[in-house]
Amino acid sequence: MQPRRLTLALAAACAFSLPAFAGTVEVLHWWTSGGEAKSAAELKKMIEAKGHTWKDFAVAGGGGDNAMTVLKTRVVSGNPPVAAQVKGPAIQEWAAEGVLANLDNVSKAEKWDSLLPPVVANVMKHKGHYVAVPVNVHRVNWMWANPEVFKKAGVQPPKSWDEFDAVATKIEKAGFIAVAHGGQPWQDNTVFESIALGVGGPAYYNKAFVKLDPAAINSPTTIKAFDTLRMVRKHMDKDMPGRDWNLATSMVINGKAAMQFMGDWAKGEFAAAGKVPGKDYLCLAAPGTANAFTFNIDSFIVFAQKNKDMKATGDFASTVLSTPFQEVFNQNKGSIPVRLGHDMSKFDDCAKKSASDFVASNKSGGLVPSFAHQMAQPSAAQGAIQDVVSSFMNSNMSSKEAVAKLLEAAKKR
Ligand code: BGC
Repeated sequence: MQPRRLTLALAAACAFSLPAFAGTVEVLHWWTSGGEAKSAAELKKMIEAKGHTWKDFAVAGGGGDNAMTVLKTRVVSGNPPVAAQVKGPAIQEWAAEGVLANLDNVSKAEKWDSLLPPVVANVMKHKGHYVAVPVNVHRVNWMWANPEVFKKAGVQPPKSWDEFDAVATKIEKAGFIAVAHGGQPWQDNTVFESIALGVGGPAYYNKAFVKLDPAAINSPTTIKAFDTLRMVRKHMDKDMPGRDWNLATSMVINGKAAMQFMGDWAKGEFAAAGKVPGKDYLCLAAPGTANAFTFNIDSFIVFAQKNKDMKATGDFASTVLSTPFQEVFNQNKGSIPVRLGHDMSKFDDCAKKSASDFVASNKSGGLVPSFAHQMAQPSAAQGAIQDVVSSFMNSNMSSKEAVAKLLEAAKKR
């Protein structure tokens, strides 16, 4: 063959083979608030740097309830995205449907088993194969506080739920909203799980909300947890129904409200607004939970694709777990890296505290999965528990009645 014709043939072959290397990476997620979108943009940038096309499949709605509904429709119609933000026991539910791809190639080549804490790796695997890649570790049991508001009200942030009522009342007398909240089921549950943990401690929390042990649910501690939720509810403003979580965070940022109970994705909002921890805002453990850590691990499941070209999927998964991505994404998102031994020196004080509390609580037995964020239960039980807490928040239901309904919800597992 003439050299020129050979060159042409090679060029044609390369052009033809290009799609095998460059793919379209469509990713479903629910990261649409200011801090979340900034974090997701880092993923897009890195995927594009690998030569792939990023197709954003963002479904608004904190906590991901909307995103899960949309995902089901897409998969049922036989057209799944490359990856979707799914976490906890739901990963196993999707794997059991037989629609996921495994990540054996990349996970073996990159030795994921040695990069991840075993408790995280197990959640990502189905029958011994990785079917999901973890992104981060969020801590849920935080109280975000505006120090200026506390100063003006002449009170210190509460350390226990017993002192909470008096502190919140003083804040209101000084003309502020005590608790910034958005009345949506997942946010109601986020507040309730921190209360249950603070009132009962990690051993009770594990029995009642992870194992769903009827004796632990049907106990005076659960009654006290609901009574406490009723008391905290009283300190939320009348405009809270339906409010998005990030708008509640803004109320703390702007000094309208004193505090918010929310996972550390809220820190992403403070950071995006240029606020400095320790000065403009405080990250404190929710009352009574200083020695505990409710974890919420974001992850992506990956779907089997019809054309069987899994290169883009592998590149996506490898990027998510890479050190450069873990560093920049988590600084924007408010979470901490999921890779073991990640250098935390460039992270802020809240993240450093989260990282050391993660390790300490793991040793002490205080590390517990967040039930409000799909870490503890299969989706049917999780949804049923969420409904009970949310209807309690929005009615005059007694704590005793709520416990009875919780016992029913636990049977969904
Ligand atoms: C997710 C976070 C997200 C938050 C609010 C949580 O369930 O884990 O990544 O920022 O919901 O949307």
